[in-house]
Amino acid sequence: MPHTSSVESGRFEGVDLTALAAREGTPLYVYSAPQIRQRVGSLRAALAGMDAGIRYAVKANGNAAILRLLAGEGAGADIVSGGELQRALRAGIAASRIVFSGVGKTDAEIVMALEAGIERFNVESHAELDSIQRLAAQRGVLAAASVRINPDVDARTHAKISTGKAENKFGVVIDDARAWFAESATRPNVRLDGLHMHIGSQLLDLAPVRAALARMAAFWRELEAAGHSIASIDVGGGLGVRYRAGETAPDAHDYAVAIAEALQGFRGRILVEPGRWLVAEAGILLSRVVLEKQGRERRFLVLDAAMNDLARPSLYDAWHDIVPLHTDAAREALDYDVVGPVCETGDTFATQRRMPRCAANELVAILGAGAYGASMSSTYNSRPLAAEVLVEDGRYAVIRCRQSPDAMIADERPATEWNTP
Ligand code: LLP
Repeated sequence: MPHTSSVESGRFEGVDLTALAAREGTPLYVYSAPQIRQRVGSLRAALAGMDAGIRYAVKANGNAAILRLLAGEGAGADIVSGGELQRALRAGIAASRIVFSGVGKTDAEIVMALEAGIERFNVESHAELDSIQRLAAQRGVLAAASVRINPDVDARTHAKISTGKAENKFGVVIDDARAWFAESATRPNVRLDGLHMHIGSQLLDLAPVRAALARMAAFWRELEAAGHSIASIDVGGGLGVRYRAGETAPDAHDYAVAIAEALQGFRGRILVEPGRWLVAEAGILLSRVVLEKQGRERRFLVLDAAMNDLARPSLYDAWHDIVPLHTDAAREALDYDVVGPVCETGDTFATQRRMPRCAANELVAILGAGAYGASMSSTYNSRPLAAEVLVEDGRYAVIRCRQSPDAMIADERPATEWNTP
């Protein structure tokens, strides 16, 4: 596993992490530019035989520098809000490579996307389809749209990140989608000519992907036979990564083969929306040990990073490998509960984790933190947002300054001015 060994030596892309922590402070997100480039490159290579485009799911890590890096490698964006649209456009991603997903697009967001001229909407409800028609008609434009199918397959991932089962809020059943195509003449400002799916995230098994693709492919063939031409099939994101040494994740080649096999004979454009797979393993969260504490039953390692910086363990019981950066082999191994300073029991990165003994002020790297780390962080407990840096060839660039306590509270006001709406 490249990401463990790369930091065990205390260096990441040739950058000395101890010196970096001393310069920039902790907690600190550190991302490897070469590893991100390498992931995009291998996905592109795997998809090379198809007319396929990568639409990076911005929610995984929307930092402007990361988006610029991905845009430079030819990726477009999958967005789910007006904020993500602005991020993507400002990072230089062409509107013609931006798809807009999400179950609750507001009128204001739809208007922003129409005015920017995005590639297409991934439509998730009848009400949304009507809104796009109304708002596009008002502006005299034609909006390209795909219907997000809910294929009702079990993605076999954590319940909170599974999206393709009938009980989930996402997408529509095929019967509804069929009706939308049949009545598409009633919506002259929407060109409904695409299909979309996304069954869940952190998929470690391609079988559910194949099952969902088969359902979507059968529907595409049925639509073509009924005279509807389909220009775009978007297979969503979800490709899983290795969070734990020894875990196996599907590779890009097998994923591409599954897509190619299911969509054999399709002559339109295929889109993929990976988020995690492109950035998760390229990122670490560098944190300093505040103190070691022996409780009555457990031994705690209290870090200066917390659930507000990286929420995944507390939200999904997610596993992240934690690597101490001190290298002396003689240390005894202990079972630690690795926790943050936030005032909640859920502020726990790992429970009873066997690790070499750590002492106050030493550094640890929490691995696999490049996706859904900084992007899901908050200032809970009034902890300013962590800094983020990009590393490459022994150098680093700060791509997000550490938030100052002043900036954290700058938008708040005492209630001295009272208005009536
Ligand atoms: N496309 C759509 C429509 C999505 O909803 C998502 C993720 C993606 C693409 C990208 O999925 P990925 O390739 O990253 O698996 N916060 C959770 C993950 C939530 C994913 C939400 N949707 C976590 O930390 O595990």
